[in-house]
Amino acid sequence: MKENKTNSEIMEQLVKECEEVLLRFLPDPDNMPEGEAPTATIASAMRYSAMAGGKRLRPLLIARICDMYGGRRELAEPFMAGLEMIHTYSLVHDDLPAMDNDEYRRGRKTTHIVYGEGMAVLAGDSLLNFAYETAISAFNAAKTPEETAAVIRALRILTRNAGIFGMVGGQCADLEAENRQAQPDAAPISAELLEYIHSHKTACLIDSGFTIGAVLAGAPEEDIQRLHKIAYNIGIAFQIQDDILDVIGDSKELGKSTGSDEKDGKSTYVSIHGLDQASRDVRSLTDEAIVEFDALSAKDDFLRDLILQLVSRTK
Ligand code: IPE
Ligand code: IPE
Ligand code: MG
Ligand code: MG
Ligand code: MG
Repeated sequence: MKENKTNSEIMEQLVKECEEVLLRFLPDPDNMPEGEAPTATIASAMRYSAMAGGKRLRPLLIARICDMYGGRRELAEPFMAGLEMIHTYSLVHDDLPAMDNDEYRRGRKTTHIVYGEGMAVLAGDSLLNFAYETAISAFNAAKTPEETAAVIRALRILTRNAGIFGMVGGQCADLEAENRQAQPDAAPISAELLEYIHSHKTACLIDSGFTIGAVLAGAPEEDIQRLHKIAYNIGIAFQIQDDILDVIGDSKELGKSTGSDEKDGKSTYVSIHGLDQASRDVRSLTDEAIVEFDALSAKDDFLRDLILQLVSRTK
């Protein structure tokens, strides 16, 4: 794709589009459906976390990859909003005292600090459920049997990547590993287990970002398989960089507290492999992903640069 905009202008535009789509689908606490006024608090808690900013990486990948294959945004938008709702719910629950116990997220107080723990659990639950209600509405936009079949396949990817064999499974293994580490004389967690944790808790939702837009646009099967591989590498690299930034990042820029992993006594990529090795591995995982990206049948210089830039991201 050739366009006369700089990458930062394209990024700004994409983030704006993602936020407009998200806001359009989220329930409005000031305008609840007839008879639903008592749930306005939960609608407000959903908006609080979802509209707090954040990079919008996952929905913008859906949008841009859909465009790259000439797909229709109307089909992609329910998935863009749905995936960001799932990601946001994962953050709301991840920050709870029973998990990472963090007080800042996306530059503001976490949902449980503002709304209380019970309401934060429910806000996460409702974001997850509403994500599916939203994504299913893509059927309304499908105009051909092929598009209907693509929506079904995209829903399979979205749901599987979020659940027990995806993000929730990774979070579960992460929590168990952390609890084991808290025992006296605990053995360090293996590199294999850490890869399982990263590939599930983080790479799975990133996989939805890389593949759903392609599926909806009817991209060639070979490309979809390559995009799964790219997402695996980029997802793991993204979590390694997250572990690095937890040690050397700037909490103001990140919008979340640093030192959270050490506070929780968590084994991370950095505590196991060291900072230098961690940075080298982010780079080599990214280089492998770029080789795959260059082999796709479609091209997009903006996306290629975005993948490369994630290596040195500071937020
Ligand atoms: C944070 O994800 C959780 C991880 C998987 C490391 P992001 O770094 O994408 O968070 P936001 O969406 O920008 O807030
Ligand atoms: C969380 O990993 C990934 C999720 C599925 C939410 P982290 O616990 O390291 O994410 P941050 O650092 O709190 O964003
Ligand atoms: Mg966590
Ligand atoms: Mg956390
Ligand atoms: Mg982290």
